[in-house]
Amino acid sequence: MEKNIIIPESVAIIMDGNGRWASLRNLPRIQGHREGVKAVRKAVEFSYNNGIKTLSLFAFSTENWRRPNDEVMFLMNLFKETIDREFDELIEKGIKIKFLSRRDELPDFVIQRIDRSEEKSKNNEKMNLLIALNYGGRYDIVQAVNKIVEKGVEKIDEEEFSEYLLTYPFKDPDLLIRTSGEMRISNFFLYQISYTELYFTEKLWPDFDENDFEEAIKVYSRRKRKFGSI
Ligand code: FPP
Repeated sequence: MEKNIIIPESVAIIMDGNGRWASLRNLPRIQGHREGVKAVRKAVEFSYNNGIKTLSLFAFSTENWRRPNDEVMFLMNLFKETIDREFDELIEKGIKIKFLSRRDELPDFVIQRIDRSEEKSKNNEKMNLLIALNYGGRYDIVQAVNKIVEKGVEKIDEEEFSEYLLTYPFKDPDLLIRTSGEMRISNFFLYQISYTELYFTEKLWPDFDENDFEEAIKVYSRRKRKFGSI
């Protein structure tokens, strides 16, 4: 990559637009999700090759259960297939895999794969891949509060609070990318994005490639981050 580029340590992506990608081609929506997996692979490789330490991907939100049942079941099977086909290679490359998940709603066949991937990659240190699968920003905050209450903690500061979030001990995103032109957070990270730079692109997720990722980083590099200072 060119000069004056600042590689963000932690990047989060809201992968949006799979359905529209498919509709534009008169294909069923699920075909867009299949194509989306290819873009996931590209984004992980790009991050790995360019020294992004932590990549967080929003794969399924706690609200996505509202979609038609066949699409939800297709997605659960796609997660299973993708983990089975791709994750050993990622783990061999030294990638630590963590799922950010509300587990009680997920099918057992997904939970098993989550547990196996996390266990097999727990000592890896080259890069962190966080997959938000059945994740909601509000859920994350509330589950943190519940853990705190259960422990009987009476007072807590911001730093300590973050230790109860599903993202602990990983660094807050420096850059959040959302594809497909929508400009909202959709209950992805809330607490974690207080000082995150936001980047929106019209590209639909299946079309988002290395060049688009590089462009997002160029734009990020030109931003002046102040963290409340001047
Ligand atoms: C958003 O597009 C995409 C999803 C809800 C699913 C994302 C999942 C993948 C890309 C597969 C990832 C797999 C792993 C293992 C991480 P949309 O359906 O909301 O598109 P639309 O807004 O155009 O309808």
